[in-house]
Amino acid sequence: MSLIVLCAGGHAKVVIEALLSRGTRPAAVTDRDASRIGETIGGIPITGPDDDILKMDTASVTLANGLGNRASRSDSGLAGRRALFERFTALGYTFPVIAHASAVIASDAVLGDGAQVMAGAVIQPAARIGRNVLINTRAVVEHDGVVGDHAHIAPGAVLCGGVSIGEGAHIGAGAVILVGVSVGAGAIVAAGAVVARNVEAGGFAGGGRD
Ligand SMILES: CC(C)(COP(=O)(O)OP(=O)(O)OC[C@H]1O[C@@H](n2cnc3c(N)ncnc32)[C@H](O)[C@@H]1OP(=O)(O)O)[C@@H](O)C(=O)NCCC(=O)NCCS
Repeated sequence: MSLIVLCAGGHAKVVIEALLSRGTRPAAVTDRDASRIGETIGGIPITGPDDDILKMDTASVTLANGLGNRASRSDSGLAGRRALFERFTALGYTFPVIAHASAVIASDAVLGDGAQVMAGAVIQPAARIGRNVLINTRAVVEHDGVVGDHAHIAPGAVLCGGVSIGEGAHIGAGAVILVGVSVGAGAIVAAGAVVARNVEAGGFAGGGRD
């Protein structure tokens, strides 16, 4: 069974590093930019566009989502990452959980398909992490935390105990979500924000102007 990383951007480098930390060497990275074929990223060759996957049997290959996101106040930037995951899962391909060797994951935490837990992240007991979620470098999900599908908990963000993050929400780097707070689906939390009250679906918190 070989593993292929989709999209050769900055996030792909972090995904490759997490895989290598566990002794898994991806076979290839895909990218839609044909001019990059032949380059390497993290020591792994870029071999062609995403659609090359379609020539491969679903039982012979697993995939990793290498697409990151850039959030603004009005857009989490996560749609592309979600679409990539949904397109290939609908076609029968699987995305295994990827966890860097230095991540700490409680024995009873539950992680959905394609969840990614990067270097130094900590996921505490009874946490539930959805499909295609990105728990980025050194982020913390405390006990009983819930993170909905496709959400991104950016580097160094801290979800205190019992926090709930909705599907497709973006929690910015270094943000702190206080105990028991809910952040709605698709909401955006600015880097460095301290969030003490619930955030509505599609809402925005932090960043000096809310
Ligand atoms: C809050 C955020 C979403 C705003 O993005 P944006 O809509 O593109 O806004 P801009 O960058 O144009 O900034 C608009 C204003 O808010 C300020 N600002 C931006 N982010 C801020 C933050 N996190 N905290 C405080 N002020 C912030 C800017 O300085 C600017 O101020 P000004 O109008 O006085 O010059 C974004 O800055 C952010 O925090 N994103 C999270 C990034 C992240 O964690 N990425 C993880 C990558 S792995």
